[in-house]
Amino acid sequence: MHETGDGSSSSSSSSSRIDGSKEESDGGPIIRVSTLSSGYASSHILFDVHFEAMEQEITVIVGPNGSGKSTLLKSIFGLCTIYDGQIRFQGRPITELTPHDIAREKIAYLPQVNNVFANLTIRENLVMAAYTLDAREFAERVPEILETFPILRTYENSKAQTLSGGERQMLAMGMALIRRPTVMLFDEPTASLSPKLALEVLSKIKQMRDEFGISVILVEQNVRRALRLGDSVYLLANGKNVFDGTPEELLAHRELGRLYLGMR
Ligand SMILES: Nc1ncnc2c1ncn2[C@@H]1O[C@H](COP(=O)(O)OP(=O)(O)OP(=O)(O)O)[C@@H](O)[C@H]1O
Ligand SMILES: [Mg+2]
Repeated sequence: MHETGDGSSSSSSSSSRIDGSKEESDGGPIIRVSTLSSGYASSHILFDVHFEAMEQEITVIVGPNGSGKSTLLKSIFGLCTIYDGQIRFQGRPITELTPHDIAREKIAYLPQVNNVFANLTIRENLVMAAYTLDAREFAERVPEILETFPILRTYENSKAQTLSGGERQMLAMGMALIRRPTVMLFDEPTASLSPKLALEVLSKIKQMRDEFGISVILVEQNVRRALRLGDSVYLLANGKNVFDGTPEELLAHRELGRLYLGMR
């Protein structure tokens, strides 16, 4: 467990290298963010942030509104201005890569606002998502996606705009899954869903981790729900690390919950 106060300490392990050379995948973190300062052009949002996600685990990011959770995901996916620090995927630096290159590395980013094509059918959406696959791969993977998300089979030939919020979220997840990502970055996938649908979406995320071995980084507004699912958790506030450790450790830290997470 680390309680990092103003974000001054970092939790880099002995396997990190400073020279940017290729590093074997050695059971270390699949994503490692160190001393990251980033933002949007001249708007500085994250300060000296550290973050690690372990392979095939669910790593949760929580924190108050505006604390920089989405900015951390967007920084990992190459969408922010990086002033300082480094982001590594399987030991290799990806800090300088474009979102296009990062997607090719099999990192999928599901933004806070759904990215489905409303005017296309469910099947057409899957075709769009699978543009890098050849016909044989596509034919093999569609049944797998429809099996994982049976609701998509029901509406396969309907336009995405007719789907409910939860169903759209399932489609967005299916569109990411068809490319067989190694890491999935989820930004509040349950926002504006009913409690029942939110639980369904979160259980699908767990299923994708369990069945496809995906490493998940999850920003989630409902802290208790997220902590039930997560293997480890990072708390950000004002663009800085406040805490990282296990969900149990965070829950035991009553004053952090009260101060930053609206918990009693
Ligand atoms: N495109 C942008 N340009 C400039 N500032 C931005 C941009 N997007 C976000 N910000 C600012 O960055 C800060 C952190 O925002 P961010 O979206 O990362 O917070 P968050 O923790 O995801 O909040 P929420 O829980 O509301 O989603 C906020 O002050 C926000 O106004
Ligand atoms: Mg956000």
